[in-house]
Amino acid sequence: MSATLSPMSLTGKVALVTGAARGIGRVTARRLAELGAAVALADVLPEVEEAAGALRDEGHTAVAARFDVADPGAVGAGVTALRNAVGEVGILVSNAAIVANIAPVAKMAHASWERELAINLTGAFNMVQAVIGPMVEQRWGRIVVISSGAAQGGLHNQAAYAASKAGLLGLVKTITLEHARHGISCNAILPGMIETENVRAMPIEIREAAIQQTPARRFGRMEEVAHLVSFLASEEGGFLNGAEINIDGGLRLGGLALGSRRELTQGGRP
Ligand SMILES: NC(=O)c1ccc[n+]([C@@H]2O[C@H](COP(=O)([O-])OP(=O)(O)OC[C@H]3O[C@@H](n4cnc5c(N)ncnc54)[C@H](O)[C@@H]3O)[C@@H](O)[C@H]2O)c1
Repeated sequence: MSATLSPMSLTGKVALVTGAARGIGRVTARRLAELGAAVALADVLPEVEEAAGALRDEGHTAVAARFDVADPGAVGAGVTALRNAVGEVGILVSNAAIVANIAPVAKMAHASWERELAINLTGAFNMVQAVIGPMVEQRWGRIVVISSGAAQGGLHNQAAYAASKAGLLGLVKTITLEHARHGISCNAILPGMIETENVRAMPIEIREAAIQQTPARRFGRMEEVAHLVSFLASEEGGFLNGAEINIDGGLRLGGLALGSRRELTQGGRP
């Protein structure tokens, strides 16, 4: 028996992407719009208005709202405004995050730890709380949470970031347990090194070391993450649920190289 596989479409869906003013969030919002979704872009930065405007200029349905995901009141008001503009949210991409707290555990300031947890972890919880009720009523929803490979492997001098990203995995799995029966999927994407504005701004020696540690010997592209998000957001992706999906060119594998000296020093196959 042969089955026909129709092309993926998000027509008729409303997708809300946080952290959509730039980087992975912005590219993801574009990808979802290109697949036919009406997109709601949220961010603290004013550039989010310009990002939505650029999509509208290309004929897509796109609206923007500025709010801090760490503030539950602002999230509630912001999501209500977006819902009034484009309709009930069926797809949530919780992507907003900060890395602002670089220090060893022994020296990390409490306030910095708390702010990073508040945005990266509690922010996702606030967003889910704001959209999950109508998803349950509609018996359909897709939640994609952008975590990080740091959730599994930790990150030197970034305990708050790694802990916040690991916390998201517990949130994602619990949402699946509670809501898979309501037609809702919730998955975590764990990027490795993706060539965003932030990564491009890193010192060249850090960039090169990161590439050498990545078996694919390159950074990922924002579009590659956006494609993965769009599959998880689609009808077709609905049975994938509660998963941790690494998109990292193999970085998580560690790959202690006991092969040839050339492989160790040049990162290439002999
Ligand atoms: N770039 C990478 O290599 C990489 C690797 C692993 C994980 N990630 C994750 O991918 C996601 C996107 O990363 P990026 O590199 O595009 O980041 P980015 O810093 O370029 O974009 C993040 C966006 O989130 C917004 N934001 C920050 N705090 C906010 C708040 N309190 N409320 C609302 N919006 C807020 C920022 O203004 C920004 O527009 C993040 O969750 C990040 O942790 C990125």
